[in-house]
This record gives sequence, C-alpha cells and structure tokens, in this order.
Amino acid sequence: MILDVQLFQAVCPVDRLEPDRGIAALVDGVQVALFRTSDDEIYAVGNQDPISGAYVMSRGIVGSRGDVPTVASPLHKQVYDLRTGDCLDVPGVNLPAYPVRVTDASVVEVAVH
Ligand code: FES
Repeated sequence: MILDVQLFQAVCPVDRLEPDRGIAALVDGVQVALFRTSDDEIYAVGNQDPISGAYVMSRGIVGSRGDVPTVASPLHKQVYDLRTGDCLDVPGVNLPAYPVRVTDASVVEVAVH
C-alpha cells in the first residue's frame, strides 16, 4: 500500500460555489480553479490556461462531453476533462487536477501538494 499523504487546505464554504460556475483561489501559492457542476460534483484544476498561459480557467465554460464533466478555456475554447485535467482537443496538453473534498462543516478543501 502506498501511503498517500495529502495536505488539504480549506478554500471556501461549499455554498460559495454556484452550479456550473468556477472560482479562482490561491491555495498554498498555487492558482486553482474550482468548479461545481450541476450534479453537485466539485473539481479543482489549475487556473492557468496551458495554451495561452493566462490565469483564466476559472472563467471557463462548464459542460460535458458524453459522461465527461468538462471546462472549456474562455480564451481558446479547448475543452478539458475536469476529473483529470486532460485536454480533450489537443493531445498531450493538460491542466493539473487536484484532489478536492468537502468537510462535515461544508468547507471545500483542496490538496495542491
Ligand atoms: S490564439 Fe486567440 S483564440 Fe486561439
């Protein structure tokens, strides 16, 4: 068994996340884009658009492709799998995807390390 030590950090109350919207958060010096989908799943990926280099992913368009929850870059429209960060349009491009959890007190926590 691998001992997987992750340092979760509180980001915001889950109520601050509106369905199909993203917010940007600074977590331990890392710019993260947090999304809540309409089926109430929460995902955290890097806020930096890998194509343009701009920190804009939190303003991306939430959607889905088949069963895959996605966010599209607001600048270039490439679509990324919110679960893995993989770009579905450009092979080899990806966002970092970070573990997320919601505490008993309804606080969203993200682990960037
Ligand atoms: S270079 Fe501007 S939209 Fe792609």
